[in-house]
Amino acid sequence: MSIEILKVETDEELHEVADLATEIWHECFPGIISMEQIEYMIEKFQSYRAMAEQISSQGYNYLAVREDGKLCGYIGVKPEDDERFFLSKLYLRADKRGRGIASSMLNRVFDEARRSGKKSVYLTVNRHNDHAVAVYKKTGFEIIRQAVADIGNGFVMDDYIMEYKL
Ligand SMILES: CC(C)(COP(=O)(O)OP(=O)(O)OC[C@H]1O[C@@H](n2cnc3c(N)ncnc32)[C@H](O)[C@@H]1OP(=O)(O)O)[C@@H](O)C(=O)NCCC(=O)NCCS
Repeated sequence: MSIEILKVETDEELHEVADLATEIWHECFPGIISMEQIEYMIEKFQSYRAMAEQISSQGYNYLAVREDGKLCGYIGVKPEDDERFFLSKLYLRADKRGRGIASSMLNRVFDEARRSGKKSVYLTVNRHNDHAVAVYKKTGFEIIRQAVADIGNGFVMDDYIMEYKL
């Protein structure tokens, strides 16, 4: 198996990422948030349109994770104006989990953050997403606070904010 993590450069690649996002969200979030909220959040944050806007005007970059050329995961990041680096998205298709790929993805995020001169990486994760929280803790992230964010249409994100000091 050969894993590559490369910046998303073309519209075609971003469409591929959006399709994978839809697949992963429908697999991993039932039981954590409602189906209505899943659809709403995909459209608002993970659709092709939303991600293209994040890249063109909000300073985001997306990285595609490929095994033997086939897309199996993606990462979304954004350097903040201060000393922090935001890990916005870290997603791997279910059949590729538990194989060390997540650690390579997180190491790549830390490298990007260091290259941008940042001192820490932070993220938000749903408080009930037990596996992701455990992975982040094991990697060395700490919970720094809880945050409930109103995202419209009556939905909230009930998250931990976690931080990794570089
Ligand atoms: C989050 C995600 C990318 C992690 O990938 P993964 O393949 O499941 O992660 P792994 O099983 O390889 O675990 C990563 C590390 O955490 C460790 N780990 C996993 N579960 C653990 C637990 N319950 N307790 C302690 N350590 C744990 C693993 O041993 C591994 O360490 P290692 O690489 O040193 O062996 C993946 O589960 C995913 O895409 N989930 C769905 C989407 C999601 O929730 N994304 C996060 C949104 S914020």
